[in-house]
Amino acid sequence: MSEVRVHNFSISLDGFGTGDVQSADAPFGHAGERLHEWMFATRFWDKTGGSLGADNAFADRNSVGIGAEIMGAGKFGPPGWQDDADWKGWWGPNPPFHSPVIVLTHRPRPAIEMEGGTTFHFLDATPAEAIEQAKTAADGKDVRIGGGATVIRDCVAAGLVDHMHLVQVPIVLGRGVRVWDGLEALEDSFDIEATSTPSGVTHLTFTKRR
Ligand SMILES: NC(=O)c1ccc[n+]([C@@H]2O[C@H](COP(=O)([O-])OP(=O)(O)OC[C@H]3O[C@@H](n4cnc5c(N)ncnc54)[C@H](OP(=O)(O)O)[C@@H]3O)[C@@H](O)[C@H]2O)c1
Repeated sequence: MSEVRVHNFSISLDGFGTGDVQSADAPFGHAGERLHEWMFATRFWDKTGGSLGADNAFADRNSVGIGAEIMGAGKFGPPGWQDDADWKGWWGPNPPFHSPVIVLTHRPRPAIEMEGGTTFHFLDATPAEAIEQAKTAADGKDVRIGGGATVIRDCVAAGLVDHMHLVQVPIVLGRGVRVWDGLEALEDSFDIEATSTPSGVTHLTFTKRR
């Protein structure tokens, strides 16, 4: 059966998935690139020089068996992108998704077909409705919730996520968008494992109890 998964979502020690204030020049606000330095050092990201250790093994699961992604308007572009009719995301003409991508936004627009198999569909709907549509688009494969923190939190709160991989980075951001707010007692419905690696990050996996 098709599952709903989160992979490689980086958070600070205090649970922020992005800093403050997001802008075109600073997609992660004052966090800069610090949430993702662990990933940039892996072969998953750096195809020629990246490491092949435990961080890479976790990172590499990102696209295995995935047939569609759901992301929030905050991941798709900087605040106000809806006012730019030409905005097609951060990723250039051939985005790294290679699948249908549902962008949740209160200001939807017609779908955009990109190179390499990615099509952005814009949807104003509940998380449950978005996941149902994504599962149909995924054609039997799994659906990845790609972020940001708001959309992940809403999908988890609604009980819609089967497996979640977060990467806790040893920095304290103090402000931004937190993933944990409102998710009290998450440990009652998920088996949780923590694996620390030599890079200094801790991989947290949450697997829904059946
Ligand atoms: N840490 C990581 O690994 C990681 C990964 C990916 C992205 N990010 C970062 O996370 C940040 C974005 O996260 P975020 O929490 O601010 O925003 P987000 O989760 O990407 O998007 C939230 C926005 O999506 C729209 N939305 C959400 N649910 C909706 C629904 N049910 N129906 C219609 N629209 C809905 C709303 O925007 P509108 O009302 O404006 O339409 C809402 O404000 C960015 O800085 C990005 O770079 C971090």
